[in-house]
Amino acid sequence: MSNAAFVPTARHLAQVRYEIRGPLAKRAHELERQGHEVIKLNIGNPAAFGFRTPATMRLALIENLSQAEGYCHQKGIFPAREAIVMETQSRGIKGVTAEDVFMGNGVSELILMTMEALLEPGDEVLLPAPDYPLWTASVVITGAKPVHYPCRESNGFIPDPEEVAAMVTPKTKALVLINPNNPTGAVYPEHVVKALVRIAEERRLVLFSDEIYDKILYDGARHYPVAKYCENTLCGTFGGLSKVYRACGLRTGWLFFSGQKQHAQKYLETLELLASLRLCANVPGQWAVQTALGGVQSIYELTAPEGRLGRQRAAALAGIEASKYLKVVKPMGAMYALPGVKT
Ligand SMILES: Cc1ncc(COP(=O)(O)O)c(C=O)c1O
Repeated sequence: MSNAAFVPTARHLAQVRYEIRGPLAKRAHELERQGHEVIKLNIGNPAAFGFRTPATMRLALIENLSQAEGYCHQKGIFPAREAIVMETQSRGIKGVTAEDVFMGNGVSELILMTMEALLEPGDEVLLPAPDYPLWTASVVITGAKPVHYPCRESNGFIPDPEEVAAMVTPKTKALVLINPNNPTGAVYPEHVVKALVRIAEERRLVLFSDEIYDKILYDGARHYPVAKYCENTLCGTFGGLSKVYRACGLRTGWLFFSGQKQHAQKYLETLELLASLRLCANVPGQWAVQTALGGVQSIYELTAPEGRLGRQRAAALAGIEASKYLKVVKPMGAMYALPGVKT
């Protein structure tokens, strides 16, 4: 018997892709070991480029370390969940209590858990293309089918709600938005957010919105949280410390539910079961959440035209503008641009 066959591998995982940590990243690692310097832009890791977590958050971590040695509640520590509730209130989102908030080891873990609790083989989930690839992978892992709605460059990478509506089938269970978007930097206008919410409400789809870049905005762009508009279906919104607060190593993310929760009790209980199976999310990072969300939001200094992110964006755009071969839709949010080749 060959070694390859000796240890079996779950066959359904053969279809799971995560190229940003795949063969290209492995090749970069090999080159580094040969002494080459490689600038790694494959994952959005602000710390690798000298961005620091706000000092107040570091102090909050240190101050609370002695309280962070044990497991906490499966949904997370109360002060963190309550801080998230208060932020929803200040954004005009109604009906969220600490019970509706789940803390996770990054948004990543919560994406995996929400898909696992929802999907069965054969179900479909509407996802944006281009996609942050964990979303597609998380659907594939369950045996369900990712169905990608196009966000075309010709439309500023903004989805067309009519096209999305036409892709809903009786098997569709959820509609996913990533706004502001990775990898395109698109920030969806209010009328598009509202139209996508309406589709989810009318077709009884769970609406999931990955808003991890919600405060990373440029040139006066405004972010419209889906939860503000969604009343008649279950709505799950994801956020975290990784990007806005430059603290991805803390592995602290959150998910809050709003909208039609009464019809989702079984689903929410199943999600809590999954949260319980992993006991709890990283506790030290959760102690930084209240401090992060309150007071001065240092990200706005970075995204201002004279701030580091503002200047880097301008430099990238100027470089592409000067190129004979490249073109790009101006990113209005997040930390990325998706240039295309002129034809
Ligand atoms: C759109 C999007 N969602 C989720 C994540 C994962 O974030 P976390 O560090 O909270 O797991 C990323 C990371 O790049 C992302 O870009």
